[in-house]
Amino acid sequence: MPIILAIESSCDDTSAAVIKDGVVLSNVTATQTIHEKYGGVVPEVASRKHQINIIPVVKAALDKANVDKTKLSAIAVTKGPGLLGSLIVGVSFAKSLSLSLNIPLINVNHMKAHILAHFAEDPKPSFPFLCLTVSGGHTQIVKVTAPLEMEILGTTIDDAAGEAFDKSGKIMGLKYPAGPEMDKLAQKGNPIFEFAEPKVEGLNFSFSGLKTSILYFLKAQLKKNPHFIDENLNDICASVQYQIVYILIKKLKQAASETGITQIAIAGGVSANSGLRKALEVTGDELGWKTYIPAFQYCTDNAGMIAVAAEFSYKEKNFSDLDMVPEARLKI
Ligand code: KG4
Ligand code: ZN
Repeated sequence: MPIILAIESSCDDTSAAVIKDGVVLSNVTATQTIHEKYGGVVPEVASRKHQINIIPVVKAALDKANVDKTKLSAIAVTKGPGLLGSLIVGVSFAKSLSLSLNIPLINVNHMKAHILAHFAEDPKPSFPFLCLTVSGGHTQIVKVTAPLEMEILGTTIDDAAGEAFDKSGKIMGLKYPAGPEMDKLAQKGNPIFEFAEPKVEGLNFSFSGLKTSILYFLKAQLKKNPHFIDENLNDICASVQYQIVYILIKKLKQAASETGITQIAIAGGVSANSGLRKALEVTGDELGWKTYIPAFQYCTDNAGMIAVAAEFSYKEKNFSDLDMVPEARLKI
C-alpha cells in the first residue's frame, strides 16, 4: 500500500497530510493570521511564513499519522496555481525530501485537488459530475469525467466569489478573510437589501460589479446615517451573501440543464459557506440532483486534498521530474 506525504503552500496556509490506501491519516494546517492586519495576503510575508512553518507542519503530519519518513512511497506537492513565492517553498522542500529519500515526486494542480477532495470521504461522486469550485482566487464550473480528466465550462471574468466576500467585508470593516465572519453574521440577519445582478454570457461569472454596487449603496446610506453599517451589519451581510449565492446557483442550474448532468458538487473555501451549502441542498431537492458537499476540513486550503489527488496520480505512475517548477497560473 503506498503511503504518500502531501504538501500544500500555494497561498497563506502551510499544510501537510499523510494518506495510506485512500485514508487520510493526518491533515495538519498552519494558517497565517499575520495577513489580517494588512487586509489581504502579502506574498512576501506569506513565503517567509511558509519557510518557518513547513518543517514543524510536516513533522506534525508524520507524527499524527504515526508514519516514519523512511516508510513513505512518494512526496506530493502543489505545483500551482497560487503565489509563486509561496509555491516555491513547498516545491523546493518536496523535491529535497524526495531526493534524499529516493522516492518519486508527484505534482498536483491545486484546483483539481479542491475537486478531488470529494474522494477523501464517503459519499463519493460517480463520473461524470459537475463541480462548482469557489475559492479566494477562482470561481469555476468544472465537468469532471474521470479523476484526472476535467474541463472548465465557466469561469469568472473578474473577481472570484471568495474575493467578493472578502472585498465586501473589507468595505464593512470586517477582518481578512471576511468570508467566514460574513457567513456567521448573515445567519443572524435577513437579505433585505438588493444589489445589482451581473449580466454575463454563458456559464461565466462576474463579481466586480457587485462590490461596486455594495460600495455605492453603503456610501449613500452612510451619508444619511453615519451608523448605518453598525446598525444593519447582519442584514447587509445576509444581503451580500444572498446575492453571491444566488449568482452561483443560477449558473450551476444552467450548467446542469445544458449538460444533463445531475451529480453536482461544490468545492473550495467558499463551499464552507452555510448559505451556499443550504441553497445547494434545496436546489438539489427541487431538481432531483445528487449533491456533494465536502466536510469543512476539506473546503479551505489543506494538504489532505493534495494527498487524495496525488494517490490518483500514483496509481497511474504519473510522477514528476526534479526539474519541475511551480506555475502561478497553472490551468486545470
Ligand atoms: O480555497 P481557499 O481556502 O483558498 C484559495 O485557494 O483561495 O478559499 C479561501 C476563500 C476566502 O476568500 C474566504 O473568505 C472564503 O474562501 N471562505 C468563505 C467561508 N470560508 C472561507 N466564504 C464564505 N463563507 C465561508 N464560510
Ligand atoms: Zn484553494
